Amino acid sequence: MVSNQIVVIGSCMVDFVSYAPRLPKTGETIHGRKFVTNFGGKGANQCVAAAKLGGETALIARVGDDVWAKKYIDSLCKDGVKVDYVKETESFSTGIAQIIVSDTGENQIVIVAGANNELSVEDVECVKDVITNAAVVVLQLETSEDVAIKACQLCRGISILNGAPALSKFDLQLLQLPTIFCVNESEATVFTGLPVNNVCEAEAAATKLLFLGCKSVIITLGPLGAIYVNNEDKQFIHIGSPLVKSVDSTGAGDAFIGALAYLLANEKEHGIQKSIQLACIVAADTVTRPGTQTSFPGPEILKCRKQDN
Ligand code: RIB
Repeated sequence: MVSNQIVVIGSCMVDFVSYAPRLPKTGETIHGRKFVTNFGGKGANQCVAAAKLGGETALIARVGDDVWAKKYIDSLCKDGVKVDYVKETESFSTGIAQIIVSDTGENQIVIVAGANNELSVEDVECVKDVITNAAVVVLQLETSEDVAIKACQLCRGISILNGAPALSKFDLQLLQLPTIFCVNESEATVFTGLPVNNVCEAEAAATKLLFLGCKSVIITLGPLGAIYVNNEDKQFIHIGSPLVKSVDSTGAGDAFIGALAYLLANEKEHGIQKSIQLACIVAADTVTRPGTQTSFPGPEILKCRKQDN
């Protein structure tokens, strides 16, 4: 039987979010309007995004042994994520993210990875069969580079590596092993050393990523949508995004990756271009609501958009 399972290997963070009129300058103190705590982390966010759309998902991750750990696992369960491979880690704190969101929806994020740093190659090898049997395996870089490389080596389906946070020094296998290497504008700049402010510059950065060995590249461009290219036909595709009023862009990239993983695992008939278009629609929808996982839509977003076309 062909598996539809999406396996995400990555981070869980508790997000401490302050909403403020604008982002502070270096050395400046400003008044915020509101403070909330949310469940975040790029790995868990991507997994929850796919689960909320109706995907069969499993998360391989580590939380600490603190007050957040059980609450986080309960929240994942409520969202329909299989948590059998989410381990509590003795003597470590659950990862945290300090986030500031401005009135224009922009954000700044600092993460302290805590237990996420303990996710190991051995953890991945222990669940080798789960990874090998998955339709889509999703990775990011809030956990170790070695974990991402090992998971890509074990994957027999489609692997998506989200190069976030970006690394200026990295093992080239991070680019060469995954089926799809996906980054946003600023991450593309760190990986390539090239400026990425528009579609044309994104195409130049993607060309460099192909030269470095990527099989296929997606660069997400916020309101400008995304570009896609693969190393077979080397034809660039630019996919636009719906125009929306952004109140909080945090996690939009994670919603994009989760939606893409869901579509590639469950709706293969669309092909890559349509899947990216639908993933852009999901990501744009999330920025109209505050938060990350709390802002991710259910399957209705895909149903009504598919009828539109
Ligand atoms: O991509 C958004 C996420 O980045 C936040 O949830 C935060 O936890 C950081 O990992």
